Amino acid sequence: MGYAKALLGVLLVSALAATSTVQANFKCKSTGSTCTALVDFVAPNATNLAAIQTLFQVKKFHNLIGANNLPTSTSINQTVSAGKTIRIPFTCLCANGTGVSNGTPVYTVRSGDTMYHIAHDLFAGLVTYEQIAAANKVPDATNIDVGQQFWIPLPCSCDDVDGMKVVHYGYVVPKGSTVEEIAQEYGTTQATLLSLNQMANASELQAGQVLDVPLKACSSNVNSSSLDYPLLVANNTYLYTASNCVKCKCDSTDNYTLQCEPSGLKPLSNWTTCPAMQCQGADSLYIGNATSSGCNQTTCAYTGYTNQTILAALVTQSTCPASAASKIGFQGWGWNFFLISIQLIFFCLHLSQ
Ligand SMILES: *[C@@H]1O[C@H](CO)[C@@H](O)[C@H](O)[C@H]1NC(C)=O
Ligand SMILES: *[C@@H]1O[C@H](CO)[C@@H](O)[C@H](O)[C@H]1NC(C)=O
Ligand SMILES: *[C@@H]1O[C@H](CO)[C@@H](O)[C@H](O)[C@H]1NC(C)=O
Ligand SMILES: *[C@@H]1O[C@H](CO)[C@@H](O)[C@H](O)[C@H]1NC(C)=O
Ligand SMILES: *[C@@H]1O[C@H](CO)[C@@H](O)[C@H](O)[C@H]1NC(C)=O
Ligand SMILES: *[C@@H]1O[C@H](CO)[C@@H](O)[C@H](O)[C@H]1NC(C)=O
Ligand SMILES: *[C@@H]1O[C@H](CO)[C@@H](O)[C@H](O)[C@H]1NC(C)=O
Ligand SMILES: *[C@@H]1O[C@H](CO)[C@@H](O)[C@H](O)[C@H]1NC(C)=O
Ligand SMILES: *[C@@H]1O[C@H](CO)[C@@H](O)[C@H](O)[C@H]1NC(C)=O
Ligand SMILES: *[C@@H]1O[C@H](CO)[C@@H](O)[C@H](O)[C@H]1NC(C)=O
Ligand SMILES: *[C@@H]1O[C@H](CO)[C@@H](O)[C@H](O)[C@H]1NC(C)=O
Repeated sequence: MGYAKALLGVLLVSALAATSTVQANFKCKSTGSTCTALVDFVAPNATNLAAIQTLFQVKKFHNLIGANNLPTSTSINQTVSAGKTIRIPFTCLCANGTGVSNGTPVYTVRSGDTMYHIAHDLFAGLVTYEQIAAANKVPDATNIDVGQQFWIPLPCSCDDVDGMKVVHYGYVVPKGSTVEEIAQEYGTTQATLLSLNQMANASELQAGQVLDVPLKACSSNVNSSSLDYPLLVANNTYLYTASNCVKCKCDSTDNYTLQCEPSGLKPLSNWTTCPAMQCQGADSLYIGNATSSGCNQTTCAYTGYTNQTILAALVTQSTCPASAASKIGFQGWGWNFFLISIQLIFFCLHLSQ
């Protein structure tokens, strides 16, 4: 880990394109709750995905590329050029009115590091050095030792926005963009962004600022007793759940309905093999399969998992013009649950990050 020793002197000046001058402090009222969140990392120097995964301690590489909607075949060695933005998925914890990453990432101090360098350069200004010092109860930020470990409190939130479950995204504002443009790009309103970020006026927006942007999450059939409930997958992202056995994606082409399928990956932890995720009552249907009958579409949908089972259910969506016209939203869906339990060996609980 000492390869950069010679390079890292007392480097207080950097050539960062975007540096935060506004300290991010996301509101998070649902004290004690955790959720998945996203934050932008604008690479200060050319790097690769492996280094970014290590820096942010993203447990599953697949979820890092899923958060960026990159192809599943993306190599961990893929280079990331300076100035490019990579979205980091992490677990958020609400405490004391604000949200911060739940104890990760942890950074180990190297020779030549200063608290300022860690915050401003290595973590690209997502946090201030004062925030790192406060989170780690460091009395004197100018006096740190090689090998010392600091938890980096990334900004985030778990709050509902306008009564909807969303994925909070710490968006690093590029030069020249406006609140109105950002609102439009992410399907929200200027008023929502201003209120969420405690801004009185859109003219307060600064390049490099970490803005709390609520991303629409797909509706899903995940049962409230599932270990990954509520499975919130943000628009234009995908992630892996159920011990990596199931891949779920969210996009506008599926009308913001979560689309899950077998991942084809090896399971994590104590599962030896992923089960055949078959819908009972429809032997030929597996999670992700769909059939049409007239204007009804039946899908074998992922409905969750427990420490021993994966659940799948047949869901019929009626798109018949006559009946659909009289029903709106969830009432327009006919639900048929044929839950199946696939017995699996005991494995350890893990979160979907
Ligand atoms: C990534 O690079 C490392 C070392 O350069 C190499 O060992 C590894 O096989 C590479 N992985 C992939 C997926 O290309
Ligand atoms: C919240 O505040 C309490 C009391 O000030 C403190 O002990 C605790 O560490 C804080 N929690 C977090 C996550 O910052
Ligand atoms: C980026 O590269 C420059 C030049 O090598 C170096 O001085 C600087 O510390 C690097 N920044 C980071 C965050 O690694
Ligand atoms: C979802 O993402 C797509 C692709 O980026 C975008 O066109 C669409 O506006 C987004 N929808 C919402 C509600 O954010
Ligand atoms: C926002 O700020 C601009 C420029 O400072 C000012 O012209 C405008 O009146 C302000 N709008 C509100 C609603 O305060
Ligand atoms: C959720 O799962 C529980 C236990 O498997 C089951 O009793 C319940 O009916 C399910 N709820 C829904 C809405 O499917
Ligand atoms: C159902 O899904 C499985 C696994 O994703 C796939 O191999 C199979 O071809 C699909 N069958 C139908 C009828 O779509
Ligand atoms: C579609 O489903 C509804 C009930 O969900 C049923 O009454 C209707 O007959 C179905 N139509 C076709 C064409 O299968
Ligand atoms: C897994 O489930 C079994 C039976 O429901 C339970 O006895 C066991 O404690 C669970 N293990 C974990 C790690 O949750
Ligand atoms: C998309 O979903 C909305 C609400 O969930 C529904 O009103 C609309 O009819 C759906 N559109 C299509 C094309 O399925
Ligand atoms: C796997 O299960 C064993 C007990 O059967 C447990 O001791 C171990 O911690 C588990 N490991 C993981 C990664 O879940």
